[in-house]
Amino acid sequence: MATPGMEDYLEQIFLHIERSGHAKAADIAESLDVLPSSVTKMFQRLDRDGYVYYERYKGIELTEKGMDFGGRLVKRHDILEDFLRIIGVKEEKIYDDVEGIEHHLSWNAIERISKLVEMLEEDQVFTKKLLVERK
Ligand code: FE2
Repeated sequence: MATPGMEDYLEQIFLHIERSGHAKAADIAESLDVLPSSVTKMFQRLDRDGYVYYERYKGIELTEKGMDFGGRLVKRHDILEDFLRIIGVKEEKIYDDVEGIEHHLSWNAIERISKLVEMLEEDQVFTKKLLVERK
């Protein structure tokens, strides 16, 4: 089982690799606002748990397990952002709110929220009404 901390790292590693083809410890440290030494430690832990291949000074790569799981984490984040956006949460609140809740929902809950977002997207009359009520 990955801890919330491991999930945050895997999510960022996945995004960095997706965007630029690599994930450097310094970039991950900046994204997560942590010290490079913490990143190194977590890279070792993720390696031990089979999510990444990590060699000091060489960089990091996702294993198949890390790739699958990282992809699910990024998708989960996106679903929750879509959800908060569609119900009218202020744009500047969305990212931090999602980072706060994403680790604490079951995959079952994510799946149901995803379905709800899908249905809300189809029901423009309702979603517009919802936004009018926004303060
Ligand atoms: Fe996230």
